[in-house]
Amino acid sequence: MSDDEAEEEYLFKIVIIGDSAVGKSNLLSRYSRNEFNAHSKATIGVEFQTQSVEIDGKEVKAQIWDTAGQERFRAVTSAYYRGAFGALLVYDISRRATFDNVARWLDELNSHSDTTVARMLVGNKCDLENSREVSLEEGKSLAESEGLFFVETSALDSTNVQTAFEIIIREIY
Ligand code: GTP
Ligand code: MG
Repeated sequence: MSDDEAEEEYLFKIVIIGDSAVGKSNLLSRYSRNEFNAHSKATIGVEFQTQSVEIDGKEVKAQIWDTAGQERFRAVTSAYYRGAFGALLVYDISRRATFDNVARWLDELNSHSDTTVARMLVGNKCDLENSREVSLEEGKSLAESEGLFFVETSALDSTNVQTAFEIIIREIY
C-alpha cells in the first residue's frame, strides 16, 4: 500500500457547529496549534485543520471543519455536513441564548447526516464561572435526552479541549 492510501484509510471529517462567538474557532486553534486568540474575528465561510492523533497505536487523521455561526457568513450547508463522521455542537455556558439554540443546530445536523454520526455537546467558556448562565446539570441532561456525549471546555485555559476532540475521534474510530 502506498503512503497515500495508508493516510486515507483513517481520515475522518468532524464538523464544529453552534452560534457565533461561542468559541468554535478557538477550540479548534487550541486543539490543533495550542493557540488562543482573545480578539478573534467571526469566521467567514469555512476553515479546516487536519490533526493527527494516535489511537491504539495507529495514526488517525481528523479533518476538522469550522464554519461561521452567523447565517450570513455561512457556506453551503449541505456541503459542510457531507461526509462528516462526527460533530461538536458548541454553546457558551455564559450565554443562555446559545444553549437555547442547540436544538436548532441539532435539527440542522440531523437533517443533513445519518444517525451514525458521533455527536458531542460542548459547553465552552467554563472558565467564566462567575457569569455562568447554564448549569452543568442542564448541559448533561440535554445531552442525555438527545443521546449526545457531553463535556464542558475552556479554549482559554485548555480545560477538556483535547478530551472533547479525542472522545469523538475515538468513537468514530
Ligand atoms: P463565529 O466564527 O462567529 O461562529 O464564532 P466562534 O464560535 O468561532 O467564536 P470564536 O472562537 O471566534 O470566539 C469568540 C470570542 O470568545 C473571542 O473573543 C474568544 O477569545 C472568546 N472565547 C473563545 N473561547 C473562549 C473560552 O473558552 N473562554 C473565554 N473566556 N473566552 C473564549
Ligand atoms: Mg469562528
